[in-house]
Amino acid sequence: MMRYTVPRDLYFGKGSLEQLKNLKGSKAIIVVGGGSMKRGGFLDQAVSYLEEAGMEVKLFEGVEADPSVETVMRGAEMMKEFEPDVIVSMGGGSPIDAAKAMWAFYEYPEVTFEDLCIPFNFPKLRTKAIFVAIPSTSGTATEVTAFSVITDYAKGIKYPLADFEITPDVAIVDPALAETMPAKLVAHTGMDALTHAVEAYVSTMNGPFTDPLALRAIEMVFDYLPTSFEGNMESREQMHYAQCLAGQAFSNALLGIVHSMAHKTGAAFEGGHIPHGCANAMYLPAVIEFNSKDETAMKRYADIARFVKLEGSTDEELMRALVKKIRDFNVLLGIPASLKEFGIPEDEFNAKIANISELAVGDACTGTNPRSIDPATMEKLFRAIYEGVSVDF
Ligand code: ATR
Repeated sequence: MMRYTVPRDLYFGKGSLEQLKNLKGSKAIIVVGGGSMKRGGFLDQAVSYLEEAGMEVKLFEGVEADPSVETVMRGAEMMKEFEPDVIVSMGGGSPIDAAKAMWAFYEYPEVTFEDLCIPFNFPKLRTKAIFVAIPSTSGTATEVTAFSVITDYAKGIKYPLADFEITPDVAIVDPALAETMPAKLVAHTGMDALTHAVEAYVSTMNGPFTDPLALRAIEMVFDYLPTSFEGNMESREQMHYAQCLAGQAFSNALLGIVHSMAHKTGAAFEGGHIPHGCANAMYLPAVIEFNSKDETAMKRYADIARFVKLEGSTDEELMRALVKKIRDFNVLLGIPASLKEFGIPEDEFNAKIANISELAVGDACTGTNPRSIDPATMEKLFRAIYEGVSVDF
């Protein structure tokens, strides 16, 4: 038996933030990041809509990018004191992910972080509050997914929490919030969305409910990301929906090794953080080449290429056309073609890559990749990506 879970209600369209007015409850807490929602005026709007609904409103501000266990615990403490019956998370993936974990600790103060790290082991939520998610970036789709990524900085590890209990109750996908994104954020989050859809489509858990969402999301990213990147707001709106379709696909079909590799390299090098979407964009073409040695995966990549009307008369030609299209997109969006070009020093890469490869193979996303991989092959794959060369093994 398989399962397909998405939020109970999804409101979308410009101005749909207003839906907050119709929520039922007496106390609402709003969880946001570092200030973009305030600057855009969206935080004030959200507060006044919730007050219009008759709720007392409290704010938890300042969730950092890649939120920490400590931030989650501080938020949960505030919730325990304030006792909200509505949790509203608004912003990029970081504040929404943090709020999901706060929610679990608010409802179950005795639960430990280690308990939550066991996949699909969450206690029943919604005994104290419902959860509303309002994305302001067009990539993570955390507003519709069963996932949250929290970083334990003491251990230097990113923990992906996974359970359908943390799939939000209500998602509000209002493209107005995405209009203020700078171009680089548009590029990175957009390629994150593309990667979600491609990995979900070839995942070993793919299926009839997620395939159409994944294919349409890929088509929309190819149609709208370049113009959204240039600042066209109609395209920006379509990208906001495309990433949400991709999210519904991957929350249920899961992902593959592009994400395993991005999770384990994001914070691994001294030279600087590799933004998640940028890492995905750099790794995706090489992973498609690698996975295509598996016949079923090759056929599925060819399906994608056919769906978006790329040229090719054999599955292999179609797969190669897809790889080229993604590499061309990276050029267009100013994304480096290799880890070397990104600026990771060669000596640091050589010193760390064996350990990173081992960790990447052990990542939760590796299990649903269409081709299995061992640490030595993972290292070979990383080396090809470091140099930006094609993969033929
Ligand atoms: P992601 O969705 O990639 O996980 P994030 O980690 O939540 O994104 O946010 C990344 C950066 O994008 C943050 O600096 C965030 O600013 P705030 O912390 O101040 O909110 C910024 N950001 C998110 N949405 C934005 C928007 N619509 N306009 C401008 N900046 C935005």
